[in-house]
Amino acid sequence: MGKKSLHNRSLLKALGAGASLALVVATPGPLLARPASVAAAAQGARARADALVARLTLDEKIALLHGLFPPMAAGKTANELIPSAGHIDGIPRLGIPLVRETDASLGVANQVEQRKGDVATALPSGLATAATFDPEIARAGGVMIGSEARAKRFNVMLAGGVNLTRDPWNGRNFEYLGEDPLLAGELAGAHIAGVQSNNIVSTVKHFALNAQETGRMVLDARIGEAALRMSDLLAFQIAIERGRPGSVMCAYNKVNGDWACENAFLLNKVLKQDWNYPGWVMSDWGGVHSTAKAANAGLDQQSGQELDKAIYFGDALKADVGAGRVPQGRLDDMVARYLTGLISAGVFDHPVPARAQPIPYSRNAAVAQRAAEAGIVLLKNNGNLLPLAASARRIVLIGGNADVGVLSGGGSSQVRSVGGAPIEIPLTSGAAASFARVTYHASSPLRALRAALPRASVTYVDGRNVAAAAAAARTADLAIVFATQWTTEAQDVPNIALPDGQDALIAAVAAAQPRTVAVLETGGPVLMPWIDAVPAVVQAWYPGQRGGEAIANILTGRVNPSGRLPITFPAAAAQMVRPTPVGLDRLTSLEAQAAANPANSSQYELPTFPVDYPEGADVGYRWYERTGQRPLFAFGHGLSYTRFAYRNLRVSGGDRLRVTFDVVNAGRVAGADVPQVYVAREGATVPMRLAAFQRVTLKPGETRRITLTAEPRILADYDTALPGWRIAGGRYRVAVARDAADRSLTATAVLSPATMKP
Ligand code: BGC
Repeated sequence: MGKKSLHNRSLLKALGAGASLALVVATPGPLLARPASVAAAAQGARARADALVARLTLDEKIALLHGLFPPMAAGKTANELIPSAGHIDGIPRLGIPLVRETDASLGVANQVEQRKGDVATALPSGLATAATFDPEIARAGGVMIGSEARAKRFNVMLAGGVNLTRDPWNGRNFEYLGEDPLLAGELAGAHIAGVQSNNIVSTVKHFALNAQETGRMVLDARIGEAALRMSDLLAFQIAIERGRPGSVMCAYNKVNGDWACENAFLLNKVLKQDWNYPGWVMSDWGGVHSTAKAANAGLDQQSGQELDKAIYFGDALKADVGAGRVPQGRLDDMVARYLTGLISAGVFDHPVPARAQPIPYSRNAAVAQRAAEAGIVLLKNNGNLLPLAASARRIVLIGGNADVGVLSGGGSSQVRSVGGAPIEIPLTSGAAASFARVTYHASSPLRALRAALPRASVTYVDGRNVAAAAAAARTADLAIVFATQWTTEAQDVPNIALPDGQDALIAAVAAAQPRTVAVLETGGPVLMPWIDAVPAVVQAWYPGQRGGEAIANILTGRVNPSGRLPITFPAAAAQMVRPTPVGLDRLTSLEAQAAANPANSSQYELPTFPVDYPEGADVGYRWYERTGQRPLFAFGHGLSYTRFAYRNLRVSGGDRLRVTFDVVNAGRVAGADVPQVYVAREGATVPMRLAAFQRVTLKPGETRRITLTAEPRILADYDTALPGWRIAGGRYRVAVARDAADRSLTATAVLSPATMKP
């Protein structure tokens, strides 16, 4: 198919108002069993589901197993179609509810404003939430966005993005929770539980290894089983245990040769058999490739059917059941799993309201602001340039559109936030063009700083003219340069340099004004060639709908920075496992569009290509330790306006590793610290792994003794022959650290050998 129809299809998607494109004890023996009450609740829900399945006709069963994509499904249902990601009619005679699905993890999405004027509260990016290292904050965000989804009559939220960040250039990193499986899993689980506390379903997604956007609809992600279980899958496993999501969304890509949505290893073996997952597997939108193969491999439901090449789970499924290619028992299981997920989350017993309900937006904005404030990371602060001295009289803000708002990430997760979009730039090319626009939230750092510093003169220059910006910086007491990097679903950034000449701008400003602060609003890590010249750097991520206020509060010290990096910041592109997106060089731009945009891909026959993950489970900081490289800023790094110290370390081993120590606030202001416990077997060549962490808030001078227990699977390796997790008995090195590179406080523990179920 030619360029024109590709374009038309994209357009259709955009206009069609479219689119979502729019513990466990470590003793020998099988452990990690689910608590009895959880197992009983799942069994109860399943029994109720089975009873319903027994009363459904074949056609009714089939109807529940394929969903509509509202922007392209006009006239296909008698029920109201809310422009959004998905719609599946219910069966009123049996009380089976109509399901309406909305994206995503950062709030109720409304990409390209498909619902005119419908706003929602926008959380900061997933990476910002991950940087809080605080499951409570992740949970509060989930509670808040889930309540808005419910008030808008959605009962399934496509939240819970937990793909591990393997490559800093991945366009979707901002939706995810960083590079460490324990951190990402814990926070995703808390977020999902928060969403589901509203009696709606949250997904966990994209299962698995959708680790890059380039060619996501065609690529084959290749990795060994043990490494996969110890990294990406472990993040999902922990998220599912903590959050109990009603549904798992399988990914677009292939994993070791099979499409993730028809991958019997991932779906049947790992998820349903090993993890005993009771809910349903829904496809990603446009991610289905077969009927019998997919159904028999464990896919339970086809989502957004208009985006696939065919309606695989409609008449084709009926025919395959009739011909015995899909067993009747499997068909019943598919439906029962769907109903079990809905019943467990409360969707049956607490139906969403018939009409949209009012939403307490100002209360919800405070939730977003708190997450942003706790997630902003103070990367560098030479000479205590920050917080801004009350004596600073003339402050100039430069660039980043800091006069009007803060940047957000693009794609299906895009929230149209309360206050609207002061800047919204359509794209003219690229895979995301049909469903993403460069969008700012209406939260102005300039306005917020002026309000916080009423006696200072705070001015703004846009930074387009570098000489003018440098001149303005020279005549001020202090300059704050805002730099942005827009990233989006469906496209990776070609490299992690700041775009559009911003490095030159920052360097020029810093040369003119020694008291320069850089504030970064980026999807993930960026290179900082100017770092030695800039005394203070603040990583603000995409800070969400109250980002301007959050940034101002950090800069002025009203809020003491406490964020920690959930992802390593490289010192140079060459340090990364893969310096640039794999496959980008082999796709023409039209092919690249088609290979990443589901609305286009079904029109193309594109060759698959492999993406190898030779780092295995040594993702992120573990890769840096394994290769002996020093990053610019280590995973876990983050400064404060106070000082913390760790003292009196005691470790105990045996069946479980416990680490006890004092956390001391040795400075003069209150603050939150995140002590981190890293562990590795002595003598082994494997890098240390984050085994426990805790966010602790302390008054000045306060000391708190805390005990952290290591997650046993972090102490273990996955043994495919067992199969299961195996902790080799013996001596383990333990570090209580401020980041992944810190080894100043260490001890040794002796652990008993143990095995655990997969
Ligand atoms: C994305 C999913 C999203 C779905 C529905 C897909 O393109 O990969 O994350 O939930 O669309 O909008």
